[in-house]
Amino acid sequence: MQCDYFDSARCRSCTLMGTPYDVQLAEKDARVRRLLAAQVPDDAWATPFAGPESGFRNKAKLAVGGTTTAPTLGLLDRDGAGVDLRDCGIHEPGLREVLPRLAEFVTLAAIEPYRLSTRRGELKNLLVTRSPTGELMLRFVLRSQEAVARIRKHLPALRAALPQLHVVSVNILPEHRAVLEGDLEIPLTAQQTMPMPLSAITVHLRPQSFFQTNTAVADALYAQAVTWSHDAGAAHVWDLYCGVGGFGLHLAAPGRRVVGVESSAEAIASARISAAGLPGELEFVVGDATEYAARHRGADLIVVNPPRRGIGELAGLLDGGDVRTVLYSSCNAESLARDLDRMPSLRPARARLFDMFPQTWHHEVLVLLERA
Ligand SMILES: C[S@@+](CC[C@H](N)C(=O)[O-])C[C@H]1O[C@@H](n2cnc3c(N)ncnc32)[C@H](O)[C@@H]1O
Repeated sequence: MQCDYFDSARCRSCTLMGTPYDVQLAEKDARVRRLLAAQVPDDAWATPFAGPESGFRNKAKLAVGGTTTAPTLGLLDRDGAGVDLRDCGIHEPGLREVLPRLAEFVTLAAIEPYRLSTRRGELKNLLVTRSPTGELMLRFVLRSQEAVARIRKHLPALRAALPQLHVVSVNILPEHRAVLEGDLEIPLTAQQTMPMPLSAITVHLRPQSFFQTNTAVADALYAQAVTWSHDAGAAHVWDLYCGVGGFGLHLAAPGRRVVGVESSAEAIASARISAAGLPGELEFVVGDATEYAARHRGADLIVVNPPRRGIGELAGLLDGGDVRTVLYSSCNAESLARDLDRMPSLRPARARLFDMFPQTWHHEVLVLLERA
Protein backbone atom coordinates (compact mmCIF):
# COMPACT_ATOMS: atom_id res chain seq x y z
CA MET A 1 0.00 0.00 0.00
CA GLN A 2 1.26 3.48 -0.80
CA CYS A 3 0.39 6.49 1.38
CA ASP A 4 1.23 10.12 0.60
CA TYR A 5 0.91 11.09 4.28
CA PHE A 6 3.54 8.50 5.20
CA ASP A 7 5.85 9.30 2.28
CA SER A 8 5.83 13.01 3.18
CA ALA A 9 6.35 12.17 6.91
CA ARG A 10 3.09 13.89 7.87
CA CYS A 11 1.97 10.66 9.55
CA ARG A 12 4.14 7.74 10.64
CA SER A 13 1.47 5.78 12.52
CA CYS A 14 1.59 2.85 10.07
CA THR A 15 5.16 1.75 10.71
CA LEU A 16 5.10 -0.97 8.00
CA MET A 17 3.69 1.29 5.28
CA GLY A 18 5.49 0.67 1.99
CA THR A 19 6.49 -2.92 2.86
CA PRO A 20 4.70 -5.29 0.47
CA TYR A 21 1.76 -6.81 2.31
CA ASP A 22 2.76 -10.47 1.81
CA VAL A 23 6.19 -9.65 3.30
CA GLN A 24 4.75 -7.82 6.32
CA LEU A 25 2.26 -10.62 6.99
CA ALA A 26 5.01 -13.27 6.84
CA GLU A 27 7.27 -11.20 9.12
CA LYS A 28 4.50 -10.50 11.61
CA ASP A 29 3.57 -14.18 11.72
CA ALA A 30 7.23 -15.12 12.26
CA ARG A 31 7.59 -12.52 15.01
CA VAL A 32 4.49 -13.69 16.87
CA ARG A 33 5.63 -17.33 16.58
CA ARG A 34 9.05 -16.35 17.91
CA LEU A 35 7.53 -14.54 20.91
CA LEU A 36 5.49 -17.66 21.67
CA ALA A 37 8.10 -20.27 20.71
CA ALA A 38 8.54 -21.51 24.28
CA GLN A 39 4.81 -22.04 24.76
CA VAL A 40 3.22 -22.91 21.40
CA PRO A 41 4.60 -25.88 19.42
CA ASP A 42 5.44 -25.27 15.76
CA ASP A 43 2.85 -27.70 14.47
CA ALA A 44 0.03 -25.93 16.35
CA TRP A 45 0.18 -22.88 14.06
CA ALA A 46 -2.35 -22.40 11.25
CA THR A 47 -1.74 -20.13 8.25
CA PRO A 48 -2.38 -16.50 9.27
CA PHE A 49 -5.74 -14.99 8.42
CA ALA A 50 -5.64 -11.70 6.52
CA GLY A 51 -8.31 -9.38 5.16
CA PRO A 52 -7.77 -6.40 2.84
CA GLU A 53 -4.50 -4.49 3.37
CA SER A 54 -6.19 -1.09 2.94
CA GLY A 55 -9.64 0.38 3.59
CA PHE A 56 -10.15 -2.00 6.55
CA ARG A 57 -10.71 0.27 9.55
CA ASN A 58 -14.35 0.63 10.55
CA LYS A 59 -13.54 3.39 13.01
CA ALA A 60 -11.88 6.77 12.47
CA LYS A 61 -10.41 8.45 15.55
CA LEU A 62 -9.64 11.97 14.42
CA ALA A 63 -7.96 14.64 16.52
CA VAL A 64 -9.30 18.00 15.42
CA GLY A 65 -6.97 20.97 14.93
CA GLY A 66 -6.82 24.09 12.80
CA THR A 67 -9.55 26.69 13.06
CA THR A 68 -13.34 26.77 12.99
CA THR A 69 -13.30 27.81 9.34
CA ALA A 70 -10.47 25.46 8.32
CA PRO A 71 -10.46 22.48 10.69
CA THR A 72 -7.96 19.65 10.27
CA LEU A 73 -9.14 16.08 10.91
CA GLY A 74 -6.34 13.66 11.70
CA LEU A 75 -3.69 14.04 14.35
CA LEU A 76 -1.77 16.71 16.21
CA ASP A 77 1.97 17.08 15.66
CA ARG A 78 4.56 17.45 18.44
CA ASP A 79 3.79 21.17 18.71
CA GLY A 80 0.05 20.50 18.95
CA ALA A 81 -0.67 21.71 15.40
CA GLY A 82 -3.33 19.84 13.44
CA VAL A 83 -2.31 17.52 10.58
CA ASP A 84 -5.15 16.75 8.19
CA LEU A 85 -5.41 13.03 7.31
CA ARG A 86 -8.93 12.87 5.96
CA ASP A 87 -7.84 10.74 2.98
CA CYS A 88 -6.15 8.13 5.19
CA GLY A 89 -6.29 4.93 3.14
CA ILE A 90 -6.66 2.45 6.00
CA HIS A 91 -10.15 3.79 6.77
CA GLU A 92 -13.07 2.12 5.01
CA PRO A 93 -13.92 4.12 1.85
CA GLY A 94 -17.41 4.77 3.26
CA LEU A 95 -15.81 6.50 6.25
CA ARG A 96 -13.40 8.53 4.16
CA GLU A 97 -16.13 9.95 1.99
CA VAL A 98 -18.07 11.49 4.91
CA LEU A 99 -15.12 13.33 6.48
CA PRO A 100 -15.40 16.48 4.30
CA ARG A 101 -19.07 16.80 5.42
CA LEU A 102 -17.95 16.60 9.06
CA ALA A 103 -15.33 19.29 8.50
CA GLU A 104 -18.04 21.52 6.96
CA PHE A 105 -20.25 20.86 9.97
CA VAL A 106 -17.52 22.03 12.36
CA THR A 107 -17.58 25.34 10.48
CA LEU A 108 -21.40 25.53 10.26
CA ALA A 109 -21.93 24.89 13.98
CA ALA A 110 -18.92 27.10 14.86
CA ILE A 111 -17.26 24.49 17.06
CA GLU A 112 -13.84 25.85 17.83
CA PRO A 113 -11.09 23.19 17.69
CA TYR A 114 -9.33 22.74 21.03
CA ARG A 115 -5.77 24.04 21.15
CA LEU A 116 -3.30 22.18 23.35
CA SER A 117 -0.97 25.18 23.70
CA THR A 118 -3.54 27.60 25.13
CA ARG A 119 -6.04 25.03 26.46
CA ARG A 120 -8.78 26.98 24.69
CA GLY A 121 -11.39 25.83 22.22
CA GLU A 122 -13.90 23.00 22.42
CA LEU A 123 -13.61 20.22 19.86
CA LYS A 124 -10.95 17.65 20.69
CA ASN A 125 -11.83 14.55 18.65
CA LEU A 126 -14.32 13.19 16.17
CA LEU A 127 -14.97 9.45 16.53
CA VAL A 128 -16.82 7.83 13.63
CA THR A 129 -17.74 4.14 13.33
CA ARG A 130 -19.24 2.57 10.22
CA SER A 131 -21.35 -0.59 10.15
CA PRO A 132 -21.10 -3.13 7.30
CA THR A 133 -24.40 -1.76 5.95
CA GLY A 134 -23.01 1.79 5.82
CA GLU A 135 -24.70 3.27 8.89
CA LEU A 136 -22.62 5.64 10.97
CA MET A 137 -22.09 6.42 14.64
CA LEU A 138 -20.67 9.91 15.19
CA ARG A 139 -19.32 11.22 18.48
CA PHE A 140 -18.03 14.73 19.16
CA VAL A 141 -15.49 14.79 21.99
CA LEU A 142 -15.69 18.26 23.55
CA ARG A 143 -13.96 20.09 26.38
CA SER A 144 -17.25 21.37 27.78
CA GLN A 145 -20.94 21.66 26.90
CA GLU A 146 -20.47 25.14 25.36
CA ALA A 147 -21.10 23.97 21.77
CA VAL A 148 -23.79 21.36 22.47
CA ALA A 149 -26.79 23.62 21.76
CA ARG A 150 -25.29 24.69 18.42
CA ILE A 151 -24.56 21.10 17.42
CA ARG A 152 -28.17 20.20 18.23
CA LYS A 153 -29.48 23.19 16.27
CA HIS A 154 -27.53 22.31 13.12
CA LEU A 155 -27.82 18.54 13.38
CA PRO A 156 -30.82 18.32 11.00
CA ALA A 157 -28.62 19.81 8.23
CA LEU A 158 -25.93 17.20 8.89
CA ARG A 159 -28.49 14.40 8.89
CA ALA A 160 -29.87 15.67 5.59
CA ALA A 161 -26.34 15.63 4.11
CA LEU A 162 -25.54 12.23 5.65
CA PRO A 163 -28.74 10.16 5.84
CA GLN A 164 -26.66 7.18 6.97
CA LEU A 165 -26.02 8.88 10.35
CA HIS A 166 -27.66 6.52 12.80
CA VAL A 167 -26.28 7.46 16.22
CA VAL A 168 -24.91 10.88 17.22
CA SER A 169 -23.65 11.85 20.65
CA VAL A 170 -21.35 14.25 22.45
CA ASN A 171 -18.69 13.07 24.86
CA ILE A 172 -17.31 15.49 27.43
CA LEU A 173 -13.58 15.38 28.19
CA PRO A 174 -12.84 18.42 30.40
CA GLU A 175 -9.36 17.29 31.48
CA HIS A 176 -6.23 18.28 29.57
CA ARG A 177 -5.16 14.66 29.14
CA ALA A 178 -3.90 12.53 26.27
CA VAL A 179 -6.95 10.27 26.24
CA LEU A 180 -9.57 9.89 23.55
CA GLU A 181 -12.78 10.41 25.49
CA GLY A 182 -14.28 11.19 28.90
CA ASP A 183 -16.99 9.58 31.04
CA LEU A 184 -20.01 11.78 30.26
CA GLU A 185 -21.91 10.90 27.07
CA ILE A 186 -24.79 13.12 25.90
CA PRO A 187 -27.07 11.45 23.31
CA LEU A 188 -28.17 13.69 20.43
CA THR A 189 -30.26 11.15 18.54
CA ALA A 190 -33.11 9.08 19.98
CA GLN A 191 -31.32 6.06 18.52
CA GLN A 192 -28.19 5.23 20.56
CA THR A 193 -27.52 1.72 19.32
CA MET A 194 -26.06 0.86 15.92
CA PRO A 195 -26.47 -2.66 14.50
CA MET A 196 -23.26 -4.23 13.09
CA PRO A 197 -24.39 -7.24 11.07
CA LEU A 198 -21.62 -9.87 10.87
CA SER A 199 -21.84 -13.12 8.89
CA ALA A 200 -23.48 -15.16 11.65
CA ILE A 201 -25.04 -12.66 14.06
CA THR A 202 -25.64 -8.94 14.55
CA VAL A 203 -23.88 -7.11 17.37
CA HIS A 204 -25.26 -3.80 18.61
CA LEU A 205 -22.87 -0.99 19.42
CA ARG A 206 -23.45 1.85 21.83
CA PRO A 207 -21.21 4.95 21.91
CA GLN A 208 -18.90 3.94 24.75
CA SER A 209 -18.51 0.26 23.95
CA PHE A 210 -15.39 -1.26 22.40
CA PHE A 211 -15.63 -3.08 19.10
CA GLN A 212 -12.84 -4.61 17.01
CA THR A 213 -11.73 -2.07 14.39
CA ASN A 214 -11.50 -4.52 11.47
CA THR A 215 -14.93 -5.98 10.80
CA ALA A 216 -13.87 -8.65 8.25
CA VAL A 217 -11.07 -10.01 10.44
CA ALA A 218 -13.21 -9.89 13.60
CA ASP A 219 -15.82 -11.91 11.76
CA ALA A 220 -13.19 -14.54 10.88
CA LEU A 221 -11.83 -14.57 14.45
CA TYR A 222 -15.25 -15.31 15.93
CA ALA A 223 -15.90 -17.99 13.31
CA GLN A 224 -12.56 -19.62 14.20
CA ALA A 225 -13.46 -19.65 17.88
CA VAL A 226 -16.68 -21.48 17.04
CA THR A 227 -14.88 -24.07 14.85
CA TRP A 228 -12.05 -24.74 17.29
CA SER A 229 -14.37 -25.09 20.26
CA HIS A 230 -16.65 -27.53 18.48
CA ASP A 231 -14.93 -30.66 19.83
CA ALA A 232 -15.21 -29.39 23.41
CA GLY A 233 -18.99 -29.99 23.21
CA ALA A 234 -19.34 -27.39 25.95
CA ALA A 235 -22.62 -26.97 27.79
CA HIS A 236 -21.46 -24.04 29.92
CA VAL A 237 -19.30 -21.28 28.41
CA TRP A 238 -17.81 -18.13 29.91
CA ASP A 239 -16.77 -15.20 27.70
CA LEU A 240 -14.49 -13.16 29.98
CA TYR A 241 -13.63 -9.57 28.96
CA CYS A 242 -16.58 -9.99 26.58
CA GLY A 243 -16.94 -6.35 25.42
CA VAL A 244 -20.15 -6.19 23.34
CA GLY A 245 -20.22 -10.00 23.41
CA GLY A 246 -18.60 -10.97 20.09
CA PHE A 247 -17.32 -14.39 21.19
CA GLY A 248 -20.19 -15.30 23.53
CA LEU A 249 -22.91 -14.38 21.03
CA HIS A 250 -21.22 -16.49 18.34
CA LEU A 251 -20.99 -19.42 20.76
CA ALA A 252 -24.72 -19.35 21.58
CA ALA A 253 -26.27 -22.76 20.85
CA PRO A 254 -29.36 -24.73 21.82
CA GLY A 255 -28.94 -26.29 25.26
CA ARG A 256 -25.83 -24.22 26.04
CA ARG A 257 -25.45 -21.63 28.78
CA VAL A 258 -23.15 -18.71 27.93
CA VAL A 259 -22.13 -16.07 30.48
CA GLY A 260 -20.30 -12.91 29.35
CA VAL A 261 -18.40 -10.81 31.91
CA GLU A 262 -17.16 -7.29 31.20
CA SER A 263 -16.28 -4.20 33.24
CA SER A 264 -18.06 -1.69 30.94
CA ALA A 265 -21.78 -1.32 31.67
CA GLU A 266 -22.32 0.23 28.21
CA ALA A 267 -20.79 -2.79 26.49
CA ILE A 268 -22.94 -5.15 28.56
CA ALA A 269 -26.06 -3.15 27.61
CA SER A 270 -25.04 -3.68 23.96
CA ALA A 271 -24.46 -7.41 24.47
CA ARG A 272 -27.87 -7.87 26.11
CA ILE A 273 -29.59 -6.27 23.11
CA SER A 274 -27.69 -8.54 20.70
CA ALA A 275 -28.56 -11.66 22.74
CA ALA A 276 -32.30 -11.37 22.07
CA GLY A 277 -33.50 -14.24 19.90
CA LEU A 278 -30.29 -16.28 20.00
CA PRO A 279 -30.52 -19.97 20.98
CA GLY A 280 -29.70 -21.35 24.44
CA GLU A 281 -29.31 -19.31 27.61
CA LEU A 282 -27.27 -16.11 27.49
CA GLU A 283 -26.40 -13.91 30.44
CA PHE A 284 -24.19 -10.80 30.34
CA VAL A 285 -22.96 -9.35 33.61
CA VAL A 286 -21.00 -6.22 34.53
CA GLY A 287 -18.01 -7.24 36.62
CA ASP A 288 -14.35 -8.03 36.95
CA ALA A 289 -13.28 -11.13 35.03
CA THR A 290 -10.93 -12.43 37.75
CA GLU A 291 -13.44 -11.90 40.54
CA TYR A 292 -16.12 -13.68 38.54
CA ALA A 293 -13.84 -16.66 37.90
CA ALA A 294 -12.88 -16.79 41.59
CA ARG A 295 -16.53 -16.94 42.70
CA HIS A 296 -18.08 -19.22 40.11
CA ARG A 297 -17.51 -22.73 38.82
CA GLY A 298 -18.79 -25.11 36.21
CA ALA A 299 -17.64 -23.66 32.86
CA ASP A 300 -16.32 -26.29 30.47
CA LEU A 301 -15.14 -23.72 27.89
CA ILE A 302 -13.74 -20.29 28.78
CA VAL A 303 -12.91 -17.54 26.29
CA VAL A 304 -10.59 -14.76 27.45
CA ASN A 305 -9.91 -11.64 25.36
CA PRO A 306 -8.19 -9.21 27.75
CA PRO A 307 -6.68 -5.76 27.14
CA ARG A 308 -2.94 -5.58 26.28
CA ARG A 309 -1.83 -6.26 29.86
CA GLY A 310 -3.16 -9.84 29.72
CA ILE A 311 -5.09 -11.82 32.34
CA GLY A 312 -2.66 -11.67 35.31
CA GLU A 313 -3.97 -13.56 38.34
CA LEU A 314 -6.81 -15.07 36.36
CA ALA A 315 -4.23 -17.38 34.73
CA GLY A 316 -3.63 -19.12 38.08
CA LEU A 317 -7.37 -19.57 38.62
CA LEU A 318 -7.84 -21.11 35.17
CA ASP A 319 -4.84 -23.36 35.61
CA GLY A 320 -5.94 -24.58 39.05
CA GLY A 321 -9.62 -24.89 38.12
CA ASP A 322 -11.44 -27.64 36.26
CA VAL A 323 -12.10 -25.99 32.87
CA ARG A 324 -10.93 -28.32 30.09
CA THR A 325 -10.79 -25.91 27.15
CA VAL A 326 -9.72 -22.26 26.99
CA LEU A 327 -9.68 -19.95 23.98
CA TYR A 328 -7.30 -17.05 24.55
CA SER A 329 -7.55 -14.17 22.05
CA SER A 330 -4.72 -11.71 22.59
CA CYS A 331 -3.57 -8.43 21.06
CA ASN A 332 -0.18 -8.72 22.76
CA ALA A 333 1.94 -11.84 22.25
CA GLU A 334 4.30 -10.78 25.07
CA SER A 335 1.65 -10.72 27.80
CA LEU A 336 0.14 -13.85 26.22
CA ALA A 337 3.49 -15.67 26.59
CA ARG A 338 3.67 -14.68 30.28
CA ASP A 339 0.09 -15.81 30.88
CA LEU A 340 0.66 -19.15 29.12
CA ASP A 341 3.67 -19.75 31.40
CA ARG A 342 1.33 -19.36 34.37
CA MET A 343 -0.99 -22.06 32.98
CA PRO A 344 1.21 -25.17 32.63
CA SER A 345 -1.80 -27.52 32.88
CA LEU A 346 -3.43 -25.92 29.84
CA ARG A 347 -1.48 -26.78 26.69
CA PRO A 348 -1.68 -24.78 23.44
CA ALA A 349 -3.11 -27.14 20.80
CA ARG A 350 -3.79 -24.64 18.02
CA ALA A 351 -2.85 -21.05 17.29
CA ARG A 352 -3.39 -18.54 14.51
CA LEU A 353 -2.53 -14.95 13.75
CA PHE A 354 -5.46 -12.75 12.68
CA ASP A 355 -4.12 -9.64 10.97
CA MET A 356 -6.54 -7.12 12.37
CA PHE A 357 -4.07 -4.23 11.88
CA PRO A 358 -2.25 -4.34 8.51
CA GLN A 359 0.57 -1.79 7.96
CA THR A 360 1.63 -2.06 11.63
CA TRP A 361 3.20 -4.68 13.92
CA HIS A 362 -0.06 -4.86 15.92
CA HIS A 363 -1.56 -8.32 15.91
CA GLU A 364 -4.34 -10.50 17.26
CA VAL A 365 -3.57 -14.14 18.10
CA LEU A 366 -6.07 -16.84 18.96
CA VAL A 367 -4.79 -19.85 20.94
CA LEU A 368 -6.78 -22.97 21.80
CA LEU A 369 -5.68 -24.48 25.12
CA GLU A 370 -6.57 -27.96 26.28
CA ARG A 371 -6.07 -29.45 29.74
CA ALA A 372 -3.18 -31.87 29.69
C1 LIG B 1 -9.95 -6.61 23.84
S1 LIG B 1 -11.43 -6.02 24.52
C2 LIG B 1 -12.48 -7.40 24.35
C3 LIG B 1 -13.47 -7.28 23.29
C4 LIG B 1 -14.45 -8.36 23.04
N1 LIG B 1 -14.07 -9.67 23.48
C5 LIG B 1 -14.76 -8.35 21.56
O1 LIG B 1 -14.55 -9.34 20.90
O2 LIG B 1 -15.17 -7.27 21.07
C6 LIG B 1 -11.10 -6.08 26.25
C7 LIG B 1 -12.32 -5.78 27.09
O3 LIG B 1 -11.99 -6.02 28.45
C8 LIG B 1 -12.72 -5.12 29.25
N2 LIG B 1 -12.06 -5.15 30.58
C9 LIG B 1 -10.95 -4.50 30.97
N3 LIG B 1 -10.62 -4.88 32.24
C10 LIG B 1 -11.55 -5.78 32.64
C11 LIG B 1 -11.74 -6.54 33.81
N4 LIG B 1 -10.89 -6.45 34.86
N5 LIG B 1 -12.79 -7.39 33.89
C12 LIG B 1 -13.66 -7.50 32.86
N6 LIG B 1 -13.53 -6.80 31.70
C13 LIG B 1 -12.49 -5.96 31.58
C14 LIG B 1 -12.65 -3.83 28.46
O4 LIG B 1 -13.69 -2.95 28.82
C15 LIG B 1 -12.78 -4.34 27.01
O5 LIG B 1 -14.14 -4.33 26.59
